[in-house]
Amino acid sequence: MLGPLASAVWEVTPDLVAISGDLTQRARVSEFREARVFLDLLPGPQVIVPGNHDVPLYNPFFRFLLPLSRFARYISSDLSPLYADDEIAVLGADTTRSLVAKGGRINIRQVGDICRRFSLLNKGQLKIVVTHHPFDLPEGFSNINLVGRSRMAMKEFARCGVDLFLSGHLHLARTGNTARYRIPGFSALVIAAGTVISTRGRGEMNSFNLIRIARPEITVKTYTWEPAQRKFLQSREQLFRETEDGGGTRSFSIAS
Ligand SMILES: [Fe+2]
Repeated sequence: MLGPLASAVWEVTPDLVAISGDLTQRARVSEFREARVFLDLLPGPQVIVPGNHDVPLYNPFFRFLLPLSRFARYISSDLSPLYADDEIAVLGADTTRSLVAKGGRINIRQVGDICRRFSLLNKGQLKIVVTHHPFDLPEGFSNINLVGRSRMAMKEFARCGVDLFLSGHLHLARTGNTARYRIPGFSALVIAAGTVISTRGRGEMNSFNLIRIARPEITVKTYTWEPAQRKFLQSREQLFRETEDGGGTRSFSIAS
């Protein structure tokens, strides 16, 4: 599947590849090496954040003292990666925590850092935050699955005007919004990726999202693995339109 995946990603000619974590299952060196080989097959630039599976689970030395040393060695030593061009500014944040096996958290320092870096760019780009753990959930998921401190974070992100949140972790490709936070005058899109190669699909086939930004329109296309054809093919397309009401509230509504 890796060959067809790399081909599919090259075919859509992305300006940026964002990878929202869990590159490995058990954070083994052999898995990180394989992930590195695969990442080198994909186009760049790439913004990559770690997931909970990229922190060693059973080795307390690594888990608590050097939780992301392998990620740093094989994937990226930059845990707050930035990509910016004239249209988008993308910042990644590490939401993994050694004290929890599965959950994750974002802290006030990270949030402040993201807002400060966005404000320094200050070119009116669409502001995008990439984390492993999600800021919104599909129906039926309890709030425990949200990234820890999400409410605090979202208040700050509303102040600095983040537009899009990208995440992984749940293995379900969904696009939601920030309505659950009920922040007056603020609405952003929350785009979750399915799992692109893991066999733990939660009933969904492997997939990746392609996000096209042509403001005021944002298109989210999902490419899904078709086993019979051994290809990733587009399975869904959602179009969102950015609008602003008279009071300065900007929001993204489904346009089709
Ligand atoms: Fe995860």
